[in-house]
Amino acid sequence: MLGFPLFPDQASTVAGRVDALFYFLLSVSVFFATLIFFLLIYFALKYRRRSPGERAQPVSESLRLELAWTIIPLGIVMVAFTWGARLYFTLSHPPADALEILTVGKQWMWKFQHPTGQREINELHVPVGRAIKLTMASEDVIHSFFVPAFRVKMDVVPGRYTTIWFEAIKTGDFHLFCAEYCGAKHSGMIGRVIVLEPMQYQQWLSGGVTAESPEAAGERLFVQLGCNACHRPELKALAPPLEGVFGIEEKLQTGETVIVDEAYLRESILNPAAQIVSGYQPIMPPYVGRVTEEGLLQIVAYIKSLETVEVKRAE
Ligand code: CUA
Repeated sequence: MLGFPLFPDQASTVAGRVDALFYFLLSVSVFFATLIFFLLIYFALKYRRRSPGERAQPVSESLRLELAWTIIPLGIVMVAFTWGARLYFTLSHPPADALEILTVGKQWMWKFQHPTGQREINELHVPVGRAIKLTMASEDVIHSFFVPAFRVKMDVVPGRYTTIWFEAIKTGDFHLFCAEYCGAKHSGMIGRVIVLEPMQYQQWLSGGVTAESPEAAGERLFVQLGCNACHRPELKALAPPLEGVFGIEEKLQTGETVIVDEAYLRESILNPAAQIVSGYQPIMPPYVGRVTEEGLLQIVAYIKSLETVEVKRAE
């Protein structure tokens, strides 16, 4: 648009919409700043004291003027609010068919794992024209995932999962930054997102070393950590069955209910006593410190992949 790179490329489906809102807010600010600047000069001249003995004239209020300067700004901020809220809604709701890539931020690198298992560090290959959803965790401190060309940024916070999504509309290399000061090498926590044609992306995937999918890695950990000693369909009197558990509403001991999402699964692994499912005893040991964030994401991916099986309760 401009002859010099004042703004990064608009390389995602939301980039144009984010910029449009930004330009709107910028124009409103410029308009009022200019108006005030000139009115200041105009009033200073018009109402200047003309003789040393001059007294100020009392002014009575004008209802019409007061209504105008209340209603017009109200209208403008409501436009900004509605516009911003709609955009925020889009940005915070990944499409259901988005390709999920597991992301871990740590001092000082970005680690990614594709659904087919390929891993990469500080580089993220994605296909153009496809919604990509990142489920992000931090191994240590707060980081922030920022791709200016996509106009998306989201904090990566220890102890919880955050998500971000984007759909690239052009191929190429785009800068990836950590946008939250996270220690000595924060400025080096950078990388690039490489947007490929879908065919090239498939080639890239198959060109990688034979990789274990996140689900398969999660299953391996599940066995390694001994989770399957209790979490088996036939032992459902002992431990809640995990088949088909993702996304359902679970009743807790306290009588409250909880939606089984990534965050609930993560907490139930690290600190199982926090939210015990109704009808079960708090007998599971906490796994905090025994599994990395990457491992947790993989176990969660494995549990998500488990489908409901009908098994009779073991007597
Ligand atoms: Cu990670 Cu700054």
